[in-house]
Amino acid sequence: MDMIREDQIDAAPLSGKRVAIIGYGNQGRAQALNLRDSGIDVVVGQRAGSAAIPRAREDGLMVVAPVEAVADADLAMLLVPDEHLPALYRELEPALSPGRAIGFSHGLAVHFGLLTPRPDLDVLMIAPKGPGTALRSLYRDGKGMIALVAVHQDASGRARALALAYAKALGCGRAGIIESSFEEECVSDLFNEQAVVWGAVPDILVAGWQTLVAAGISEEVAYLECVSELKLLAGLIEDRGLAGMREAISNTAELGAALGGPRIVDEGVRERMAAILASVRSGAFTDELQRERDSDYARLRERRKGDRASPLEAARTRLFPSG
Ligand SMILES: NC(=O)c1ccc[n+]([C@@H]2O[C@H](COP(=O)([O-])OP(=O)(O)OC[C@H]3O[C@@H](n4cnc5c(N)ncnc54)[C@H](OP(=O)(O)O)[C@@H]3O)[C@@H](O)[C@H]2O)c1
Repeated sequence: MDMIREDQIDAAPLSGKRVAIIGYGNQGRAQALNLRDSGIDVVVGQRAGSAAIPRAREDGLMVVAPVEAVADADLAMLLVPDEHLPALYRELEPALSPGRAIGFSHGLAVHFGLLTPRPDLDVLMIAPKGPGTALRSLYRDGKGMIALVAVHQDASGRARALALAYAKALGCGRAGIIESSFEEECVSDLFNEQAVVWGAVPDILVAGWQTLVAAGISEEVAYLECVSELKLLAGLIEDRGLAGMREAISNTAELGAALGGPRIVDEGVRERMAAILASVRSGAFTDELQRERDSDYARLRERRKGDRASPLEAARTRLFPSG
């Protein structure tokens, strides 16, 4: 696999073009500001009544209604929550002239058929591999964030060049761009969210904390051990890789990890990971996401309430009152 770097990318496919950024949230704000600072003509399309409208105007951007924004844009990036993309696309489609391009930062809605773009449109994906806040701060520091780029539909014959130019304008070429597909990006992303970093890791921190507290360790000490140290681990892995992280910790910690890790992450874990991957690939998770949207996020709201009220959070507040 080749990483495409900044100096290999032609900026011309985007020069003199107008980009509409629809949705001014986590990705929308960062992408709009990076594009603007790269000299691209940007307009923000934001629904009426949104608190993001004054924010975008304070950032110096022009804000209009989404339909108006896409009407004279060459490329419209649709950056609202994935489960709301089908309704947004239905609203925007009549305003998209033939031959225009639409783009996404996640492959889910297109890959799983939540929406089917008109055949005359170019359909791109530019997916920075991290949150918008980091995309923006890296850009401002003269650095960049790795991004995956893909083309779902190439009506013009110029879709790939446009996607690469867009990724370059985001600053991603400074770090490297990987050519992927909507399927590969969304399957790997959804799998990780559920089975690894965002799903399994927080739950294992909680299970560790509960185990120590049930054995009589104070809630604060258990928190420092089982939750706070994750930041140290992440920093070491980022700086040195997994192998370097293991060499950097004490012999005691390294031996403990070598003996304990495989007892926790056994074949059963791998089997359940494979089951999660299958449910991602089959679209079962995407169905769940749409059901959650239709219930006005009942499950998510309940879980957030439970997390906030948990004794683990109370221990954190006692340890870090201003955090
Ligand atoms: N967050 C990340 O770290 C990340 C990383 C890579 C890719 N992505 C992808 O980037 C895309 C955008 O995600 P995000 O996290 O940036 O979203 P987000 O922060 O939740 O963005 C919300 C924005 O979308 C608007 N919005 C919400 N519902 C809407 C609707 N029904 N109709 C029109 N506008 C609506 C919001 O407007 P209001 O102010 O009116 O609510 C707000 O401007 C998704 O495809 C996501 O998978 C996200």
